Amino acid sequence: MNDNADTVHVTRDLLVRYDKPGPRYTSYPTAPEWQEEFTQADYRRALADAATRPLEALSVYVHIPFCHERCIYCGCNVVVTAKAGVADHYLDYLDSEMALAAAALKDRRRVMQLHWGGGTPTYLDVPQIERLMETIRRHFEFPEGAELALEIDPRVTTEEQIFRLRELGFNRVSMGVQDLNPEVQRAITRYQTEEETRDVYGWCRKAGFGGINFDLVYGLPFQRPESWENTIRAICEMRPDRLAVYSYAHVPWIRPHQKWIPGEALPVGPEKYELFAAARSKLQAAGYQAIGMDHFALPEDELAMALSERRLHRNFMGYSVIPASEMISFGTSAIGEIGGAYAQNQVKLSKYYEALDAGEFPTARGFALTEDDLIRRWLIRRLMCDFYLDTAELERRFGIRYNEYFASEEEALTEFYENQFIARDGGNLTVLPLGRVFIRNVAMVFDAHLKKPEGHRMFSRTV
Ligand SMILES: C[S@@+](CC[C@H](N)C(=O)[O-])C[C@H]1O[C@@H](n2cnc3c(N)ncnc32)[C@H](O)[C@@H]1O
Ligand code: SF4
Repeated sequence: MNDNADTVHVTRDLLVRYDKPGPRYTSYPTAPEWQEEFTQADYRRALADAATRPLEALSVYVHIPFCHERCIYCGCNVVVTAKAGVADHYLDYLDSEMALAAAALKDRRRVMQLHWGGGTPTYLDVPQIERLMETIRRHFEFPEGAELALEIDPRVTTEEQIFRLRELGFNRVSMGVQDLNPEVQRAITRYQTEEETRDVYGWCRKAGFGGINFDLVYGLPFQRPESWENTIRAICEMRPDRLAVYSYAHVPWIRPHQKWIPGEALPVGPEKYELFAAARSKLQAAGYQAIGMDHFALPEDELAMALSERRLHRNFMGYSVIPASEMISFGTSAIGEIGGAYAQNQVKLSKYYEALDAGEFPTARGFALTEDDLIRRWLIRRLMCDFYLDTAELERRFGIRYNEYFASEEEALTEFYENQFIARDGGNLTVLPLGRVFIRNVAMVFDAHLKKPEGHRMFSRTV
């Protein structure tokens, strides 16, 4: 289990040895494995399978790809535009996509978790926000206690939007902050004053949002220990309920605009890790509990409680407390995880519209999981969430013997045992404090797809 002990000493040698490209395991199999051969017919099959469980709640993700300007560090699927009418046009298509999905899901309409991500959901003005919520409520039902969350960019979010969102039923909010230092902000072309962050945070509190999250990113250009610690100090003073402290993913081969980031200004390896270690120790000293590999929460926050009860989940939105294990997603590039498959929508607006105009799902690629994938996904998810693997539970769920099924993996783990990254506790596998730093490397041992000749894809770095 996670604890808050911050005694781990990580040598430079280990950081250099294990800092290599690797997945973040927000899915398994990871996105590079998904195939274009997975078409809308496969997606329809997955939805038909999901429809056979009408009483199970769903999670719904809606992607709003629009941003007014591009931050050059950004790794998200974004459409930068100020064109009038573009959002309303998009909302028409979201309605069509939801109608198609609702028909395929038949009576399965109960949603316990809604998330609007982006891009920037608050790119939508108040009438557009109202319209989108009306559309969603027309297709899905939200029982008492459902979690309605969205991502906001404090630079473009008004007090009116915040209060209206709360009235419409939203109860969780996540704000992009990244770093408060002006030099870093200049280097990533994201200018956001501390006052803007404080103001929007204040409105969220006043409106009664709970589980308020700030996103921070470490490893950004020109991030230095001293200024970064000032950022963490200021954030601790504001005291959001949760924090995601993401490792900067520098993937210019996927996001060409990142080429504008001066490579020599990027902290890498041990220097990058020191930034995370500094944030972790300051946050823990301020009373935050470490959650998984990069989240923090106040002990009274639901996320921290879910951790102690082993109810954490990991998916495309990072760590969450999830009351629904299947997620249906809408909008460009949106990723669903439903009916034993992953399905991703077309990234380009034109292709997304084209499919829906033809009355088809805009599925671009996906992956139907095999039984082996399901076993490994469960195992990797438990490791990433709990830093612990209950092997008896795995055996019971999947009818396998851990020691037999994972004999070659156990052999490959020898160096991890020797390094004190992991230990066997009874039959179970515990990730020790040092191993938590290298959890992506540990998970990679269980990734069968990485063993394929073409399995070494260009991922971001593990440290
Ligand atoms: C869709 S954005 C958040 C909402 C809003 N657009 C904003 O910028 O405030 C989601 C989050 O992803 C994280 N992110 C974006 N690009 C990243 C990258 N290259 N590496 C790591 N994290 C990244 C940032 O922390 C960002 O807040
Ligand atoms: S960080 Fe947020 S605002 Fe900036 S480009 Fe990415 S999604 Fe848009």
